Amino acid sequence: MPYAHTLEGNPHWLPLNPRSSLKAIPGERGWPIVGNTFEVLKDPLAFTKKMVAKHGTVYRNNSFGGDSVVLLGPDANELVLFDKDKNFSSEQGWGPVLNLVFPRGLMLMDFEKHRADRKALSVAFKPEPMKHYADELNAGVAAQVGDWANKPINFYSAIKALTLDLAATSFLGVPLGDEAAKINQAFVDEVQASVSPIRTPLPGTSMRKGVKAREYLVEFFTREIPARRNGTGQDFFSQFCRTTDENGVPLPADAIVDHMNFLMMAAHDTITSSATSLVMLLGRNVEWQEKLRAEVAELGSNDGSVPYGQLDRLVLTEYAFKESLRLMPPVPSIPRRALRDFSFGGYDIPAGTFVGVNTAYTHHMPEHWPDPKRFDPMRFSPEASKGRHRFAWVPFGGGAHMCIGLHFATMQIRILMAQLLSRYRIELAPGAGEDWQIFPIPKPKDGLPVTFVPV
Ligand code: HEM
Repeated sequence: MPYAHTLEGNPHWLPLNPRSSLKAIPGERGWPIVGNTFEVLKDPLAFTKKMVAKHGTVYRNNSFGGDSVVLLGPDANELVLFDKDKNFSSEQGWGPVLNLVFPRGLMLMDFEKHRADRKALSVAFKPEPMKHYADELNAGVAAQVGDWANKPINFYSAIKALTLDLAATSFLGVPLGDEAAKINQAFVDEVQASVSPIRTPLPGTSMRKGVKAREYLVEFFTREIPARRNGTGQDFFSQFCRTTDENGVPLPADAIVDHMNFLMMAAHDTITSSATSLVMLLGRNVEWQEKLRAEVAELGSNDGSVPYGQLDRLVLTEYAFKESLRLMPPVPSIPRRALRDFSFGGYDIPAGTFVGVNTAYTHHMPEHWPDPKRFDPMRFSPEASKGRHRFAWVPFGGGAHMCIGLHFATMQIRILMAQLLSRYRIELAPGAGEDWQIFPIPKPKDGLPVTFVPV
């Protein structure tokens, strides 16, 4: 999403290419100024299919403020995401969208600096802290879903609120209450700002609100860091305060603040979106609800909670989650910027080009996913997965920037499903979830009205 003006504050970025640099790539620029933005927003998958039919699986598109080259299919995903030749910048791909509110997060870093910081942060994803988060998640989910019986629930809003509350304890180590509520609101404002079409923080805009929210969070984190460095907290924030780089030096305070901000953003709407699509798909495929409920019952827990050591037994739950991520990936496309000239699919593409791979399109390619619209979790059994291209399923990306929170997300979904399905049958309201807004992160336009009927 190449917003030209963001190059200004980043002298180390490549300059913008003239439009003529892409004239050899087939494609179209759409309407003056807005290009194809509205068509992309309306139905991204349909738009991509239309472009493929006209131009093939490498094409030029003009949307969200500039030209980019879209590269489709598992080989394209591997080239760009695995990036064995270090040709593609994540910072310059995501930066135009995220730099104002989430600067210097992991996805906004490249190569050696990225590797070093990712290694330092990885302490918080090791088994010991994961066990602690599992306990927190079990308690937090149980405390809320118990109240969901027999009443109409807007699932998207309910799971968003629950995920934010869970983040207050697991991510921040802050008990629920006024402060947690203020922090949660600040995150919501930041995320809103990051996708706002007005990129200048003018009074009254969501960008201004987001910038203010960031100031509040920076102040909160900075104030807390000294105590967390000396404490024993197991939450992400405390772990980042105590971690060190390869030379034993703790992360500086401003880096902790930036990583925390980014991590919360990366975790929050993605989990909300994927939990919502899974509940919708289980609501529509009652036989799968039954299978998952039986699997949970086999654990023999009387309150639906799943200890960390038992999570791997929820195999069908994991397949169903993977299938929902295939059908409705929370990150539908992934941007990069080429740092060097490269070739793909018979085209030469110059350095400086904004490129995008498309998760959602790959996940619907019939040559990799027969009958692609059908919900069939057994696609992920070891037998069915044999021989599949390893970049045909990329909801968490791949390569150096592959989602660092993927095991956390899978754990939260397993715990949520165990707690929900051991208590309730999912009943969707008629027509629930028929229409989704896909960008920036998919959500059902009706919020997915649902009733949880005690079993
Ligand atoms: C279903 C839930 C999730 C999905 C689908 C998802 C998806 C993704 C994707 C596609 C990327 C790679 C983007 C790229 O290559 O440009 C990514 C990166 C990232 N994710 Fe997730 N994510 C999820 C949950 C989480 C959670 C729970 C956390 C934190 C606990 C998290 C933290 C991050 C971070 C920090 C990165 C940047 C990694 C890096 O650049 O090295 N994500 N995620």
